[in-house]
Amino acid sequence: MFGIVGEIAGNVFIFVLLAGAAVTGIELLWYRLPGKKKHTGGKRIAIITGASSGLGKEYARLTAEKEKDIDEIWLVARRLDRLQALAGTLPCKTRCLSLDLTDQEGIEKLGESLAQQDINVSLLINCAGFGKIGGQGVVTAEEQKGMTELNCIAAVAVTDMCIPYMGKGDRIINVCSTAAFQPLQKLSIYAASKAFLLRYTRALRTELLPKKIMVTAVCPYWIGDTEFIPVAKTEDKGIRHFFFASKAGRVGNISLKGAMIGFPVITPGVICTIHRFFSKFFPDTALQYIWEGIRRI
Ligand SMILES: NC(=O)c1ccc[n+]([C@@H]2O[C@H](COP(=O)([O-])OP(=O)(O)OC[C@H]3O[C@@H](n4cnc5c(N)ncnc54)[C@H](OP(=O)(O)O)[C@@H]3O)[C@@H](O)[C@H]2O)c1
Repeated sequence: MFGIVGEIAGNVFIFVLLAGAAVTGIELLWYRLPGKKKHTGGKRIAIITGASSGLGKEYARLTAEKEKDIDEIWLVARRLDRLQALAGTLPCKTRCLSLDLTDQEGIEKLGESLAQQDINVSLLINCAGFGKIGGQGVVTAEEQKGMTELNCIAAVAVTDMCIPYMGKGDRIINVCSTAAFQPLQKLSIYAASKAFLLRYTRALRTELLPKKIMVTAVCPYWIGDTEFIPVAKTEDKGIRHFFFASKAGRVGNISLKGAMIGFPVITPGVICTIHRFFSKFFPDTALQYIWEGIRRI
C-alpha cells in the first residue's frame, strides 16, 4: 500500500518538477533570456539590503567575488559600523548606506542617492527582513507593523525605486521564505508577509519579462548561522527547535546561481523544496496540523 502511494507521489513530484522547468524554459526562450546584457553607459551597481549580517552579508561577498561586471556594491542596513566592516573586506568599490527601510525618510534617502548619479542597477537583492515567533498577544503591535513594513512595503518601495534604473539582463532577487508556502501559527504575521512578497515577486516577474529584467523569489528554510532566529525569539516558546537549519553561504550560493539561470522561485535546500511541492497539493489545514506537530517537538 505504502509502496504504491510512494510511487504515485514520486511520479507526481517528477511531473511537477518537469512541468515547472518546461514552462520556465519556454518563458526564457520566448524572451531570449538570459541574454547578453545591454550596458546603458552608467555606473553598474548592485544594491543589497540587509547587508549588515547573515544572508545579506553573504550575498555581498558572493556578488563581489562573482559579478565582475559590477562597478560598485551599495550595502544597505541600519548598522553603519557593520556595513563599513564588511566593506573593508570586499575586493571592490562599495557604498555604505545606513538607512531604516521602515522609515519613509530612509526610502527617500535611497531614492536621492540613486538620482544623484548616472547609474544602472544591475542587481537588486531585497534581503532585509525579520520575523517574530509567538502567538496573538505576544508579538506586539509595533513588531507586527515592523514586519509588514520591512518585509512587504519596503521591499516593494525599493524595487519600484530601482526599476527605472534597470534594463535588459538586470536582476531583482527578493528574499522570501519557505514560510510563504503556508499559514504558520506562532509565526503568523511573518509567514503572511512572506506570502505577500512571494506573490508580488511572481507577478512582477511576468510584468518585467518583456523588459528583459529577471525577477526571482528565494524561499529558504531555517538558516542557522544568521541573526534571524535570535531576533525572532520571544518569551513564547512557540517554536522550540530549528531542525536541519541550513547555512547562509550555501543558501546564498545556490540562490545566486539559480537567479542567474532565471528561475522564478528558488528553494535552496531539500526541506524547502519538499515543502514547496506538498504545499501545492495539501490543503492548508492539513499542512497547519503537520506544522503544529513539528513546532511542538
Ligand atoms: N534565517 C532564517 O531562518 C531565514 C529563513 C528564511 C528566510 N529568511 C529571510 O532572509 C532574509 C535575511 O535574514 P537573515 O537570516 O540574514 O537575518 P539577519 O541576520 O537578522 O539579517 C537581517 C538584515 O536585515 C536588516 N534590517 C533589519 N531591520 C531593518 C530595517 N528596519 N531597515 C534596514 N535594514 C534592516 C538587518 O540589519 P540592521 O539590523 O543593521 O538594520 C540585517 O542586515 C530576511 O528577509 C529573512 O526573512 C531567513
